[in-house]
Amino acid sequence: MNVLILGSGGREHALSWKIAESPLLDNIYIAPGNAGTQDVGQNVPLDILDFDEIAEFAISEEIDIIVVGPEAPLVAGIYDYFQDREDTNGIKVVGPSLEGAKLEGSKSYGKVFMMENDIPTAAYGEFTSDTLDAGIAHLRANNGPYVLKADGLAAGKGVLIIDNLEEAESELKEMLSGKFGEASSTVVIEEFLDGIEFSVFVLTDGTRYKVLPIAKDYKRIGEGDTGLNTGGMGAVSPVPFVDESMMEKVEERIIKPTISGLQNRKIAYTGFVFIGLIVVDGEPKVIEYNCRMGDPETEVVMPRIKSDFLPVLAALGTDEFDKLPLKHDSRSCATIMLVSGGYPESYEKGKTITGIEKVESSIVFHAGTKQNGDEVMTNGGRVIAVSSFGNNKDEAISTSMRNVELISFDKKNYRKDIGFDL
Ligand code: AMP
Ligand code: GLY
Repeated sequence: MNVLILGSGGREHALSWKIAESPLLDNIYIAPGNAGTQDVGQNVPLDILDFDEIAEFAISEEIDIIVVGPEAPLVAGIYDYFQDREDTNGIKVVGPSLEGAKLEGSKSYGKVFMMENDIPTAAYGEFTSDTLDAGIAHLRANNGPYVLKADGLAAGKGVLIIDNLEEAESELKEMLSGKFGEASSTVVIEEFLDGIEFSVFVLTDGTRYKVLPIAKDYKRIGEGDTGLNTGGMGAVSPVPFVDESMMEKVEERIIKPTISGLQNRKIAYTGFVFIGLIVVDGEPKVIEYNCRMGDPETEVVMPRIKSDFLPVLAALGTDEFDKLPLKHDSRSCATIMLVSGGYPESYEKGKTITGIEKVESSIVFHAGTKQNGDEVMTNGGRVIAVSSFGNNKDEAISTSMRNVELISFDKKNYRKDIGFDL
């Protein structure tokens, strides 16, 4: 089989690394990829939002499966594009349709979907500039903290959690008058949930599904979960506080109703559902849906999948899917993300990275890296994820900690407390 992976982060390196293990693989291409993915397959300089260009490549290289890493091509309709063209509708695009991608692309759509299907989530109201007064009244009728969410995608910055009522009112006004452009022309105001978060990943074809290893990521830049939000600074899988009975609740109350909700709405969905959960008083509630895998969660989830993953992807949409195993490795896996100094605010690129070859007993997943002659250079905010196994999370984390110290670049930064709260 020939596979094309779209994206250039640690997630795409981990996906291509896992798929490349398969004896069923002929060729794997990563577009545009990074300095790490070129060791797994062939990087191709495609624009992940140029569907004509991707289709042309996929036809000429006889691609069987396209795995879409980030949300942008999904929210822009890549699944429907490939379905609609007669010469590409035989290619399996792993990712939801435009309609399915709205679970991530619109907070309001996600909330309505959860309400329709009785999926536990925070109580909410949604407001536009026409209903600003009602929005203010909604804030005043509740106690803080106030959770304000831009309806649309806002580069991970669209969720504000504010303690003070006056500040929340003024933020609501700013959001509705275009603080995040079109993305905040509708604002969802949610009940604040106080609990501990983890994430569940489901691979589905809209009917059948398999639950992948669970994970917890660390989104804040600073130790002790302080400072600005990032794409993610590290992750751990499995999550020690999530036991079998919690997973049963998640499966019965959240995963199954999510899949039947897709069917009720006749949503074409062949891909990953990433469910962000929070446990409040022992009960799981959905914080958000994403229509793709998480990054850096994929860097701990893929290593923990023991079965050949390619036939599972190939079987999506057929009865064969249910027959194939998806075994989880019982060991723990942890990843620590090395980032450029300054990230998630402004940072410099083009710093030489050294020491990768000294790493032992860990898997180095490249994120923002670029090959420049013989050198590997930094090329983004998140640079390299170092993933390790252990018999428990402490062992896994300490192996990653030892190895991140061997990798050097100017202004390297990383969190030294991944897993601190587990
Ligand atoms: P989201 O983009 O929806 O994942 O939100 C980003 C982060 O904000 C989440 O990972 C949570 O830590 C936090 N958050 C979102 N919604 C709530 C809520 N209703 N109550 C408490 N924290 C929340
Ligand atoms: N690490 C969180 C995300 O991928 O959205």
